[in-house]
Order: sequence, then C-alpha cells, then structure tokens
Amino acid sequence: MPPCDFVPEKYESYPYERMQKIREQNVAPALRTYYKKPLLLHQGHMQWLFDHEGRRYLDLFAGIVTVSVGHCHPKVTMATQKQLARMWHTTNIYMHPAIHEYAEKLTSLFPDPLKVVYLTNSGSEANDLAMFMARLHTRNFDIISLRGGYHGGSPYTLGLTSLTSYKHGVANGFGCTTTMLPDVFRGPWGGSHCRDSPVQTVRKCSCTEGACLAEDQYIEQFKDTLNTSVPKTVAGFIAEPIQGVNGAVQYPRNFLKEAYQLIRERGGLCISDEVQTGFGRTGSHFWGFQTHGVVPDIVTLAKGIGNGFPMAAVVTTKEIASSLAQNLHFNTFGGNPLACVAGAAVLDAIEEDCLQKNSEDVGTYMLLELAKLRDKFEIVGDVRGKGLMIGVEMVTDKDSRRPLPAEEINEIWEDCKDMGVLIGRGGLYSQTFRIKPPMCITKRDVDFAVEVFHTALQRHVERAAAK
Ligand SMILES: Cc1ncc(COP(=O)(O)O)c(C=O)c1O
Repeated sequence: MPPCDFVPEKYESYPYERMQKIREQNVAPALRTYYKKPLLLHQGHMQWLFDHEGRRYLDLFAGIVTVSVGHCHPKVTMATQKQLARMWHTTNIYMHPAIHEYAEKLTSLFPDPLKVVYLTNSGSEANDLAMFMARLHTRNFDIISLRGGYHGGSPYTLGLTSLTSYKHGVANGFGCTTTMLPDVFRGPWGGSHCRDSPVQTVRKCSCTEGACLAEDQYIEQFKDTLNTSVPKTVAGFIAEPIQGVNGAVQYPRNFLKEAYQLIRERGGLCISDEVQTGFGRTGSHFWGFQTHGVVPDIVTLAKGIGNGFPMAAVVTTKEIASSLAQNLHFNTFGGNPLACVAGAAVLDAIEEDCLQKNSEDVGTYMLLELAKLRDKFEIVGDVRGKGLMIGVEMVTDKDSRRPLPAEEINEIWEDCKDMGVLIGRGGLYSQTFRIKPPMCITKRDVDFAVEVFHTALQRHVERAAAK
C-alpha cells in the first residue's frame, strides 16, 4: 500500500457489535450496507479511509462518487469552519454573500445561455425540479429517459430511473417513458470504435471511418419510441453523459447529439444529469455533456458539488428558470450559506489542485492498466469510461458476455476490500465494478489498486480450477 503519513484519531465511539445492533433496531432497513461484514468507517483523509480499528483503505468509490476533491480536503474544511462561526443559515428570502458569490462562480463554468442556478439539497430534488421546469416551460408533459439510467428515488424521478431494483410496486412514472439504452458493450449493437474512451470494447466492428452502424441502429430505436410511445410534442429528454449506477455505460459518440436534435424538433428540452459526471471527473472536460459536443437546456448537479456536503443544483437559462417564477416556489435549505461556501471551496480546490487534469492523466493510466487485465482474464469482459469514471464489467466469458454470477463477483470484491481497496458495484446484475475515486488519487495508488485487483482475479482463477 502506498505510504500515507496521516495518523487517524483513536476510535472512541461504541464497539462494532453495538453499532450493528443499533443499525438493525433503529436504522431503516431500506438502507443496506456493502460487504458480508460491513465496514465501520471512522475517519477520512484525501483518498484514504480508516475503519474503527485504524485499518486504512484506498477509497475508489468516494462515498458513491461524492468526495470529489478528497476526504476532509483542508481548503473545503477551512472554508466551512469559517462560515460555521459566522452564520449557519438564513433562507433565501434575504440576501447573503455566499449564495451570490457561488452562483457567479458556478455559472461562469457553463457556456451561454446556461447562466442561472437554483440550488437544492440532493440530486433527486434537482432532477425533480428539472422535470418540473421542463413541463412548465414547454407546457408539454412527457419526458423520456434511457433504460438503465438512475435519476433519483423521489416519487417524481422514480419515473425516470429505469432499474428494476429501484422500482417499487406503487404508482409512479406518469408521463415518463424509457427508451433503449445504447450500450455498445452489452446492447445488440456495438463495436470497436463506438465510444469516447481510451479503451474500446472487444466486439468486432466493420464500420468505415466516420460511420457508426451502432449509433444509427440505436437512433432508429429512439425514433421508434418517439413515434410510438409519446405525443407529437414532449417536455424533454434526460440522460447522464455516462451512466453511473448502471456501471459507467457509454453510448456511441454522436448518439446524444442526434437524440437532442430529435427532442428539440418535438418542442422538448434536453436535460443533462451531471450528478456523477460533473466537476472534471471525465478528465477531458469539466462537464460530461461537453464530451458529447452538445449544450443542454438544463443541467443537474449533486454529489461531487459539495465534496460530501449535502447540496445540489439545477443550472439552466434565464428563460426556462422564469417559468417557475409565475407562482411561488421555495426551498428552505437550498443555497444555504454553509453549502455555498463548501461548493465554492470545492471549485477552488479543483482548480488549484489541477484535479480535472489529474482525472484525465490518472484515469487514462488506470483504464489502460485495467485493459491489460481484461486481455489476460476471460472473466473481465469490458473496461470502459473516461477519466476517473470507470467501469469494469465481469462476465462468464467474452463471447457470451453473460454476467459473472453474483457470488463469484462478491468473492473478488470482498478480496479487494480485505487487501485494502474499496470498489463500488453497478449494473442490472451488479456485474460491474465501479471505480470513481476522489479525483486526488495518484498513479502510485492506481498501481496498488490494479495489483490488488490482479491478485483477486488470480485467486478467482485458482478457486475455479479447484472446483
Ligand atoms: C446520476 C444520478 N442522478 C441523480 C441521483 C440522485 O441523487 P441523490 O441521491 O442525491 O438524490 C443519483 C444518485 O446516485 C445519480 O447517480
């Protein structure tokens, strides 16, 4: 494990067993934990986490893509501590400096005409608001999302979220229609040039330069949805630039560009859900939509926006935002002084620590190292992503692309944890490892993580041979 001179405080809270009991008795059971023996995490320092016994872990999941600049990043911690002593809260019926400074700073990072922000507290809330604005502005109702997408768990956004594990048997999704996911690895079409990633799929492709058969086929499916499942005019279309919860799924390069055009022809607005892809994580660009060469009408932000501080945002045009001003709309905590100060410090840290460039350099390095493991191990079906938004999809074999059974993936995943590396999971069958660390990780950390993953894969091969 790479050295780290940070010394965590001694753990002084309740013993592990008592925590487990409280969890069972007093915490809602819908909140599930990772791992056979859940971790009791006690302290964080940049890319490192420490458990109650002082054991150190390399955090490759960042509290689900949320700790963007590093655990307890000194700049963010100092800024919020200073604001804590000054003023915790006032609502936005008054003016306070932090919201104005932050609104100016955040919107300066967007192209025209995306210059207005409405601050909220969570990604679900931001997407709720985006849906609401799109419907009010267009006076249409129907919103289309991609299958496999995750856009939140609120009753409104659950209609956009298209993963059975998050669906409950209650009425939801009125006016929401899902369409085929243009997944170039697992979907019916996809080849060896389709996606914007340093690593392409192992699928063969006979497209000539500049043409993409997969893109054409998926756009035909998109048109089919428009022609069969929604009225002639729609309120909008929402997509993540790279799907997060579904396991870093990428689309053919020009898919979003064409889809945006088709939606706009039908009077709809295009919403980019940047809850996971924003703030430089994809490396080449600050926002994921820029990697697709599009400018959305509405952009939603959360997770990494506050490095773990609960905050989120909807960025849009003045005209679209004005549709919500026809009547009252209010949010008690949105734009809270502490949140705005944390958000501004995150933006400063990204710039000063060159974290977008680090995402690009370290992410590309990691993708290429992981691709070597894909070439070596039959069960590593796909390595994909951009910057530090990475997916590693596990399969029984590369020909069938059948998902590796959950119990086998679990063993590999638990092994990685036991060797000090925390990785996320995603995909319809939980078959994809998700790697989305704090953007401050180094190539040395990557070497360590890849070595650990290699060992875990090797052990899997040995277990399989012994059966
Ligand atoms: C892409 C995306 N959008 C929206 C959300 C919802 O955010 P929150 O959990 O803050 O409500 C998530 C959460 O995982 C997400 O990944």
